Amino acid sequence: MAMQGLRYKVAIVTGAAAGIGRAIAERLAAEQVRLVLADMNAEVNALANELPASAAFVGNLCLEAPVRELIQFTLETFGAIDILINNAGGGVIRPFLEHTPETLRETVDRNLWTTLWCCYAALPHMRRAGYGRIINIGADSVRNGLPEHAAYNAAKGGVHALTTGLAREFATRGITVNTVAPCMVATPMVQKLMAEDSPWIKQFADFIPMGRPGTMEEVASMVAYLASEEAAFVTGQVISVNGGSTML
Ligand SMILES: NC(=O)c1ccc[n+]([C@@H]2O[C@H](COP(=O)([O-])OP(=O)(O)OC[C@H]3O[C@@H](n4cnc5c(N)ncnc54)[C@H](O)[C@@H]3O)[C@@H](O)[C@H]2O)c1
Repeated sequence: MAMQGLRYKVAIVTGAAAGIGRAIAERLAAEQVRLVLADMNAEVNALANELPASAAFVGNLCLEAPVRELIQFTLETFGAIDILINNAGGGVIRPFLEHTPETLRETVDRNLWTTLWCCYAALPHMRRAGYGRIINIGADSVRNGLPEHAAYNAAKGGVHALTTGLAREFATRGITVNTVAPCMVATPMVQKLMAEDSPWIKQFADFIPMGRPGTMEEVASMVAYLASEEAAFVTGQVISVNGGSTML
């Protein structure tokens, strides 16, 4: 059964060229959401050609100017921004002292600055419309302190914190702000490492009581719920999709 209040809404999905972002785009397309698929990887154009009522935007979203262009492009293309999915990101996962100044900065840029700029640029339009759904993709590793995740968790912890702060500021404006925090997810990259029996990836899988990584569709399902009108009373939450990795 379709989620209530998703059909014909306009959503921006960042990081839509691959992995979880692509699965979110496919799920929202199935719910007849109109989509702007944004990524720094031009492969996102191919996905926009595949999915109905969708357009692609290529740019580096950790910078203010491309994010402003993305918002303008969305308004010109569909006339509204109802839903913002801040999915762009990805880990530079390694022991803290093995980071370089560049990988530290990249970790924060990819995961936190993309989210900050997109919220900053989209919220004035949502406030004017009196309606909005912001869903960030955080990480369950912030809660369980997964090995080698310190820098990544610093960036994703910022995303989790932004969620509660924005949810409170915009609570009476018809705008909800939530984060979906997955444990390890079987993206093509993770699947490849698992197929190679990588002990490095196995240590992360061992944290999951269900004994398997999540699927991209399981994450997309929670995102679709939070983006719908059925989730009108849910805001300021960091909701794990994690096979029991942390139990709060
Ligand atoms: N895969 C996992 O196990 C896992 C677990 C927890 C959280 N997450 C989070 O889920 C989200 C998606 O992860 P994924 O595994 O599908 O990653 P992925 O690397 O497969 O896809 C991320 C996409 O984001 C895009 N991107 C990154 N930085 C960008 C930028 N500055 N501007 C525009 N686009 C940018 C990339 O080009 C890529 O297409 C990320 O935020 C990640 O941190 C993933």
